[in-house]
Amino acid sequence: MVSFASFVGLLFLVGFARCANDTNSSAINITGNAFFNSATGERFYIRGVDYQPGGSSNLTDPLASPTICRRDIPVFQELGINTIRVYTVDNSLDHQECMEMLQHAGIYLILDVNTPDSSISRSNPNCSYNTDYLQSIFATVDAFANYDNVLGFFAGNEVINQVNNTYTAPYVKSVVRDMKRYIRTRGYRRIPVGYSAADISSNRQLVAEYFNCGDDADARIDMFGVNDYSWCGRSSFQVSGYSTKMQIYQDYSVPIFLSEFGCNEVPSSRPFTEIGSIYSSRMSSVFSGGLVYEYSNEDNRYGLVQIESETEVTRLPDFYNLKYEYGNTSNPSGGGGYSTSNDHSSCPDYDAGTWEANNTIPEMPSAASAYFRSGAGAAQGTGFLTQDSCYNDASDNDDDSSSSSSSSSSSSSSSSSTSSAASSSGISSSSATPSSSSSSSRESSSSSRGSAAVLETPLFFQIICEMFNMMF
Ligand SMILES: *[C@@H]1O[C@H](CO)[C@@H](O)[C@H](O)[C@H]1NC(C)=O
Ligand SMILES: *[C@@H]1O[C@H](CO)[C@@H](O)[C@H](O)[C@H]1NC(C)=O
Ligand SMILES: *[C@@H]1O[C@H](CO)[C@@H](O)[C@H](O)[C@H]1NC(C)=O
Ligand SMILES: *[C@@H]1O[C@H](CO)[C@@H](O)[C@H](O)[C@H]1NC(C)=O
Ligand SMILES: *[C@@H]1O[C@H](CO)[C@@H](O)[C@H](O)[C@H]1NC(C)=O
Ligand SMILES: *[C@@H]1O[C@H](CO)[C@@H](O)[C@H](O)[C@H]1NC(C)=O
Ligand SMILES: *[C@@H]1O[C@H](CO)[C@@H](O)[C@H](O)[C@H]1NC(C)=O
Ligand SMILES: *[C@@H]1O[C@H](CO)[C@@H](O)[C@H](O)[C@H]1NC(C)=O
Repeated sequence: MVSFASFVGLLFLVGFARCANDTNSSAINITGNAFFNSATGERFYIRGVDYQPGGSSNLTDPLASPTICRRDIPVFQELGINTIRVYTVDNSLDHQECMEMLQHAGIYLILDVNTPDSSISRSNPNCSYNTDYLQSIFATVDAFANYDNVLGFFAGNEVINQVNNTYTAPYVKSVVRDMKRYIRTRGYRRIPVGYSAADISSNRQLVAEYFNCGDDADARIDMFGVNDYSWCGRSSFQVSGYSTKMQIYQDYSVPIFLSEFGCNEVPSSRPFTEIGSIYSSRMSSVFSGGLVYEYSNEDNRYGLVQIESETEVTRLPDFYNLKYEYGNTSNPSGGGGYSTSNDHSSCPDYDAGTWEANNTIPEMPSAASAYFRSGAGAAQGTGFLTQDSCYNDASDNDDDSSSSSSSSSSSSSSSSSTSSAASSSGISSSSATPSSSSSSSRESSSSSRGSAAVLETPLFFQIICEMFNMMF
């Protein structure tokens, strides 16, 4: 006789074996300058796309809509990617269904925590680095930290987007530090925190060094993204300048990847021949793959697909070219020449006109320490205007007793954030590379196709896995 208890026990064993083997969704770890699948121990190369259908002119959170996820995730799988990067989400919405669909499809998320309204402002960075702002990004961390397929967070994207705004760097570095401390203090998995840099020749190397320097390990990034459009058309490792980048970053101690690539200064469709270089042993000792800019076709014409409706996309020639290149390019074998022997960078000196960032970075606004004790509290969503909220900090006169609930009222007192106060959101309007040029969406035309289920895991195992995951 099999008792009920042993039957349940058997279910758990089956569930355990099944879930333990579901390596698709295992957390990604960092060792040295490379990513690894924590379950299989294999080196992990990002094969990804940047994903923000609607662009900046019609900001929608694609991870809050199961309909959109059901439309796009099978397309990601057909393309052969393992990662998406999303520039802005609404931290007050529910992301569970989409995150689980991504997880079952073996797709990781790199998430920018900023929104256009809640980010470091280039016109007044000191003011924009305030308690309300931290509440916003910490609430975003709270909303995503429990998903194992979150590969990492970006604390900022192209905040430094010119020769002349390097003075913003200390504030972004403070944000990196605060996020890393928040993640640790709240007891979350040690999710990597990084910065995604614009490619500006005068400060390219300085930015990389600055974010990975100094004695305070919390203030150093865990990973570095470079937005790089230097390979155009059928270029080459030498001609594109990739070979030079290999030299610049050869001693870097943390993973580097292309957080945007895919130059579209080509006569017709993009051939994506850089894939063969990026995933070769010529680059794998320094680079861990990258993300193509971008999934949906917006006004700036970088799309792989045309969004037709909430349930349909049309694959463009770029999609097929990229799919072909991925299919024909396997990862370098073994560790790909990754390194564990590099030390963190040394800090660049302050240099007027070139590098105007001090190595003493701002302290966290003291009221924000309440979030470390009790969490960020209620999420305020994308309309939370924080760039001018330093005035709240100043008048608060507070002792740590401020709680997250105070931040909702404070948002209404902020004056409107002007669009000239450029933000660190990836899709802000005035930065150096295409992610920031404004892109407008198109009206969705209505469509006939219903949503198709994409979950391939049989329901039985899903339930077991969920029970299993809840228990451990
Ligand atoms: C895990 O799955 C792979 C194929 O998906 C299979 O080859 C392997 O034997 C499985 N491992 C275990 C321990 O079940
Ligand atoms: C690697 O990942 C596992 C599973 O998430 C985690 O328990 C472990 O602490 C990680 N190791 C490092 C060095 O981050
Ligand atoms: C893992 O990912 C691969 C490739 O995306 C997919 O074919 C496979 O079905 C996934 N396995 C599980 C268990 O989700
Ligand atoms: C930086 O330079 C740009 C032009 O290249 C100019 O529009 C902008 O006002 C300058 N910003 C500052 C803070 O000087
Ligand atoms: C696939 O890539 C290899 C180089 O990795 C190249 O030699 C080969 O020509 C490619 N195949 C096709 C059909 O282009
Ligand atoms: C840089 O920080 C030092 C303190 O370490 C301070 O004395 C100096 O004025 C700062 N320089 C600038 C330009 O902010
Ligand atoms: C930055 O802002 C804080 C309060 O918001 C203020 O106390 C501090 O003096 C400011 N620092 C600078 C350099 O403006
Ligand atoms: C913005 O996007 C949403 C969702 O895709 C869509 O329903 C809406 O019509 C779009 N609005 C504009 C002005 O394009």
